[in-house]
Amino acid sequence: MPKKIVLNPAYILEAESLNGPVDWAALFGRTAPVQIEIGSGKGTFLVHQAAAFPQTDFLGIEWSAEYCRLAADRIARHRLTNVRMIRTDAADFLRRHVADGTVEMIHLYFPDPWPKRRHHKRRFFSRDNLHQMLRCLQPGGWINFATDHADYYEQARRIAQEAQADGRVETVPFIRPAGAREGEMTGTNYERKYLKEGRAVYTLTLRKSEP
Ligand SMILES: C[S@@+](CC[C@H](N)C(=O)[O-])C[C@H]1O[C@@H](n2cnc3c(N)ncnc32)[C@H](O)[C@@H]1O
Repeated sequence: MPKKIVLNPAYILEAESLNGPVDWAALFGRTAPVQIEIGSGKGTFLVHQAAAFPQTDFLGIEWSAEYCRLAADRIARHRLTNVRMIRTDAADFLRRHVADGTVEMIHLYFPDPWPKRRHHKRRFFSRDNLHQMLRCLQPGGWINFATDHADYYEQARRIAQEAQADGRVETVPFIRPAGAREGEMTGTNYERKYLKEGRAVYTLTLRKSEP
């Protein structure tokens, strides 16, 4: 029988309860900058970043129910009041539930690389999703991206170059998260695993242009 996963209600935003754009102030009980992490895994980035930046609110979007529960449990154990998790598809969530210009930063660390050519269209960093991420960001907001996959990095860089040529973004230096230790770019679980395997890490940071 499949394992039943119980999600910690205090830290979970239920996808089924949503109707239109999320009211960030109502969700967090205050008005503060909002940042989103896409594909949070076990929540390592969120735990460190939310503790380091208590004046910022964070939403982690994770497709896997098991990882979502693990991340929410860690957030609860650290008594972090400025983080919520949602178990859903990030592309769908951005499109349906994030109002224009309401997010300060989007973090995308080691998204699934989909290495086979016929699966490249499943990669999260696509033209459509870049368009959505930029719509959600406030002017001057950032997308911080890291991958161990050279081909995925090249795809992202090409898409970013088009956006830069159109004046929608500029490329800026990578913003190292608070949990990154010496020799790490992000400090996430996947980065630690990949570094042990001797893999390279590629990063890309885009800043949304101001009007
Ligand atoms: C390779 S793992 C990286 C996890 C974490 N960011 C890290 O660096 O340790 C990719 C994660 O993204 C999640 N994911 C994949 N597609 C997603 C989607 N469309 N929406 C939300 N999460 C997604 C997966 O379930 C997985 O936990």
